Amino acid sequence: MTITGATLIAGIAGSPVAHSMSPVLHNAWLAAAGIDGAYVPFAVPPDGFGAFANGLRGGVVRGINVTIPFKEQALGLADSADDLARLSGAANLLTFAADGTIAARNTDGPGMLAALQLQAPGFDPAAGPAVILGAGGAARGAAATLVLAGAPQVRLVNRTRERAEALAQALGSVASAFDDGAPALADANLIVNATSLGLGGGPGPEVDFARAPPGAVVMDMVYKPLDTLFLQQARAAGRRTVDGLEMLIRQAVPSFEAFFGQAPPPGVDVRALALRHLGAAA
Ligand code: ATR
Repeated sequence: MTITGATLIAGIAGSPVAHSMSPVLHNAWLAAAGIDGAYVPFAVPPDGFGAFANGLRGGVVRGINVTIPFKEQALGLADSADDLARLSGAANLLTFAADGTIAARNTDGPGMLAALQLQAPGFDPAAGPAVILGAGGAARGAAATLVLAGAPQVRLVNRTRERAEALAQALGSVASAFDDGAPALADANLIVNATSLGLGGGPGPEVDFARAPPGAVVMDMVYKPLDTLFLQQARAAGRRTVDGLEMLIRQAVPSFEAFFGQAPPPGVDVRALALRHLGAAA
C-alpha cells in the first residue's frame, strides 16, 4: 500500500490497542478497494482520551473506532449521538466533521444483530426474552441493542447484582436483573455471554442450556478462542451458536463506510484473515 500526500486517515483508539483486529480488517478492505486510505492504531494513555479526541476536531483524521476503556468517554465528548449510543451509554465510532463537531455512533449493536442474522438465519430478536450474562460495557451495548430491536424482555444476570440492577434501571421496564441464570432461561430466545469469562480458553459463565427452549440461540462475545467452551457446551446441548468474531467484523462494516464513504468491497475474506492473525497471536 502506498501512502501519499492525500491519504485519508482513520484508526482505533484504545488502551491497550495492540491486540485489536480492526486495523487488519480495515486495511484489507482499503487495499482491495484501491482507496488511498490507512487505518492505524492509536495507543492513547488511560487518562489521555479527552485531549486526544478533542484534538482531532476539524477532521484531519476522518474518524476513529473506540475500544476499551474509552467508549463511555467517547459518547461524553461528542456533540451528537445516535439512539443506541445514547441508550447504551457508549460509543464505538466517532467521526470528525470539518466544522469541528464530533458525532458518536454505536455500531457494536448492529454488528451483533448482523452476526445473529448470518449465523442463526431467521433469528428474530422480538420473538422472545433475551438473557444477557454480564453488566459491563459489552453487556450494556448488547442489552440496549435488544431493547431497541424489540425484545419483549431483557434479563440481566451478573455476578455483581447491583450492576445488573443499575443497567436494568437505565434501560426501563423492559429490562430486569435476575439472580440466577436458571429462571431467566425458561423461555429465552437468545442467551449472550457479555462477560469476560472464557477469554483465553477458560470456562465461560455456567449455564444449563437444557433449561432454555430448543430454539434458543446462544452467542458469545468472546472471540479468542473463536470456539469457546461456552459455545461448545451450547452446541452439545443442541442449541444454535453465533461467535464473537462475526460481530467484530459486522461492526466494522458501517465504521468503514463512515470513514471512507463507501461500503467495504466484496470478495475479501476478512474472517479468514482475522482467524490467521488470531491464530498467530494465540
Ligand atoms: P466489558 O467492557 O468488556 O464488558 P467490564 O465492564 O469490566 O468489561 O465487564 C466485565 C463483565 O464480566 C462484568 O459483568 C463482570 O462481572 P462483575 O460486574 O460482577 O464484575 C464479568 N466478570 C468478569 N470476571 C468474572 C468472573 N470471574 N465471574 C463472573 N463474572 C465475571
